[in-house]
Amino acid sequence: MKGLSASAVSDAVGAAGSVPRHIAIIMDGNGRWAKRRFLPRIAGHKAGAEAVRTVVRAARDFGVQALTLYAFSSENWRRSNEEVSDLMGLLRLYLRREIRELNSENVRLRTIGDLSGLGKDLVALAREGVEATKNNTGLNFVLALNYGSQDEIVRAMRDIATDVREGRLEPADIDAAAIEARLDTNDLPPLDLLIRTSGERRLSNFLLWQAAYAELLFVDTLWPDFDRKALADAIANFGIRERRFGGR
Ligand code: IPE
Ligand code: IPE
Ligand code: MG
Repeated sequence: MKGLSASAVSDAVGAAGSVPRHIAIIMDGNGRWAKRRFLPRIAGHKAGAEAVRTVVRAARDFGVQALTLYAFSSENWRRSNEEVSDLMGLLRLYLRREIRELNSENVRLRTIGDLSGLGKDLVALAREGVEATKNNTGLNFVLALNYGSQDEIVRAMRDIATDVREGRLEPADIDAAAIEARLDTNDLPPLDLLIRTSGERRLSNFLLWQAAYAELLFVDTLWPDFDRKALADAIANFGIRERRFGGR
């Protein structure tokens, strides 16, 4: 659905509401979307890439500071060789096509996850996109690529262990801030809203640390059907939640 302006969102959210600074989405349901249409899974992933275009633009228009999308998990390597190579191909295509447009829309591309596990050409494309958009001041669009929360925490712990061994860090100085500073998300705003599409109610190794006080929203919509209106609804839903952070 098109044409829902940022002011329409703030109307929907109402006086009590606020736009989340950082939204993360587990984009799930591409395979089921395709299956319902008797199409191959890749058709669902292609439709999912279109939804990414729509939702990135909507997040920008609604004034979200950071949008993190789970594009490929560190566990998705368990899928068939064919599906993995289809997904990598689609990612390549997406990056090739979108960078210029993201740049013209003042969107800053970033990545989280272990890029070293991806093909060289894909890493080069992602790095190019990050470099080309690094001075943009609008939406931070964060692609989670070969990302797993446990892997991210393991890498942070190794970093800490090295700093301790080299005498740069005292064990007594290891606190939440020291860990957060070593996570891939260290320079992003705190996660306010975590959405999962397709009706599954699990986190599948996504932003486990960061989600400590995030609001969780599970919607039945399959990812390729998630659109501007769906994002506006999610933001409106966030706006009426009461966040307590352990107090009161
Ligand atoms: C999400 O859709 C896309 C990725 C994991 C890359 P799925 O491929 O997981 O779709 P379902 O869950 O099988 O419907
Ligand atoms: C999570 O979805 C990963 C991404 C959306 C990239 P999955 O479809 O891989 O998760 P599970 O297997 O259902 O937990
Ligand atoms: Mg899935």
